[in-house]
Amino acid sequence: MHSLTHLQIKPSMAMSLPFFFFFFFFSFCVPSSSSSSSSSFSLPVLSPITKDHQTNQYSLSLCLKTPLKPSKLLLDLGGSFSWVDCYKHYVSSTYHHIPCNSSLCTLLSLNSCAHCYRAPSPTCANDTCATTLHNSVTGKSIFHSALVDAAALPTTDGRNPGRLALLANFAFACSTTDLLKGLAKGVTGSAGLGWSDLSLPVQFIAGLSLPRVFALCLSGSPSAPGVGFYGSAGPYHFLPEIDLSKKLIYTPLLVNPYGTALDSNHGRPSDEYFIGVTALKVNGHAVDLNPALLTVDLNGNGGTKISTVAPYTVLESSIYEALTHAFIAESAGLNLTVHYPVKPFRVCFPADDVMETTVGPAVPTVDLVMQSDDVFWRIFGRNSMVRILEEGVDVWCLGFVDGGVRPRTSIVIGGHQMEDNLLQFDLGLKRLGFSSSVLVHHTMCANFNFTSNKNLK
Ligand SMILES: *[C@@H]1O[C@H](CO)[C@@H](O)[C@H](O)[C@H]1NC(C)=O
Ligand SMILES: *[C@@H]1O[C@H](CO)[C@@H](O)[C@H](O)[C@H]1NC(C)=O
Ligand SMILES: *[C@@H]1O[C@H](CO)[C@@H](O)[C@H](O)[C@H]1NC(C)=O
Ligand SMILES: *[C@@H]1O[C@H](CO)[C@@H](O)[C@H](O)[C@H]1NC(C)=O
Repeated sequence: MHSLTHLQIKPSMAMSLPFFFFFFFFSFCVPSSSSSSSSSFSLPVLSPITKDHQTNQYSLSLCLKTPLKPSKLLLDLGGSFSWVDCYKHYVSSTYHHIPCNSSLCTLLSLNSCAHCYRAPSPTCANDTCATTLHNSVTGKSIFHSALVDAAALPTTDGRNPGRLALLANFAFACSTTDLLKGLAKGVTGSAGLGWSDLSLPVQFIAGLSLPRVFALCLSGSPSAPGVGFYGSAGPYHFLPEIDLSKKLIYTPLLVNPYGTALDSNHGRPSDEYFIGVTALKVNGHAVDLNPALLTVDLNGNGGTKISTVAPYTVLESSIYEALTHAFIAESAGLNLTVHYPVKPFRVCFPADDVMETTVGPAVPTVDLVMQSDDVFWRIFGRNSMVRILEEGVDVWCLGFVDGGVRPRTSIVIGGHQMEDNLLQFDLGLKRLGFSSSVLVHHTMCANFNFTSNKNLK
């Protein structure tokens, strides 16, 4: 396929883009005069997605409350629904509590009811629907009431953002300020993008009558954001003029029949996204694995899921051992000799020994093979390796981590491996479209043009 030796180092195409982004952000939640939710058909919507380099967490920006205020929420791909801190600065003229006996309450929870004896406020009402919410980063949970309020995201033609599309009744759970502990600075809640009727994408999709498809393109750049498209199967245009919806291959999205307490679906099918990885290959050679670990059993153990909350892909111990062994052996062919480990990674090479290419450092490829040999997610150096540059150390390390002997899920594909890849979650066709590295197509996830197009209706 792509011979690494023929690829040259290329200056980043994202260099001129932060300006567009800040310009866009300046007016992110200001509705234009034509802003409306009453048109009979709508354009899809988008959100910028930023990475926090302190925590390696991703967050999306949503306009919330009346008047609309920008809110940064943790991007939780497996989350069933969203939650927001309702204690600190929750001021809105349009919020409503959800009555216990409503159909929305049934969707949200097991019909739990809360009462409150203080003055009515966003956090206090009688006969109000309550549910359990989780911080997926820390694993902490609380029980709290839920709200509906106005929310908005910019529409898009797949090329630029346009006017805001308003959702009058966006449902989410309320958190205490304390539950935010462990999340990146400036983040005021969590956006659930899981396979549920109340996920953030599905609420916009249902409210705006859009197709049940969303796509994510995560950027690793500290200054230039990536983008999420909600309610669109394409186009997804990135500079210079590349439509990434044309670069996808597909694999079925699988249902894990048995959710854990942590994904808020204990005993019911999980809302997380699983895919059928059947083999791993390093430089095209299959890694020797126990195939039983790659399927989800009746109790929900095993298999492969995708998580934006795991910063690096986590592998069950025997898979991790087999992969690193194969990777070291193939690296020897590139004259790469293992340096001492740098935590949390075990396989590192001196940076001076590693050549750089358009798709990152020149190292063996890692393929996640799906339903057949010709359907694979190829991981190049950009996504397999992590640069560690600190006092007296400059190494590239294999960016996978050991998940221990009996983790619930054998392979958890993490954020670093998703960056500069476009992933399309098609809930209607129950399939994942993936691009592998978009650097191969001479673009990157930070190359979406965030300059508003005022002509977009
Ligand atoms: C709850 O819903 C049921 C069925 O729709 C109805 O019979 C009952 O009166 C409702 N109770 C309250 C308190 O609204
Ligand atoms: C809830 O009902 C109780 C008893 O009727 C009342 O004292 C209290 O003020 C009510 N709380 C709110 C927030 O309306
Ligand atoms: C590895 O090193 C040997 C000896 O220095 C050299 O002959 C060979 O070309 C090198 N191979 C690569 C892939 O750089
Ligand atoms: C970004 O989009 C705006 C609005 O459509 C357009 O005027 C501008 O030329 C685009 N920027 C680039 C670099 O193509």
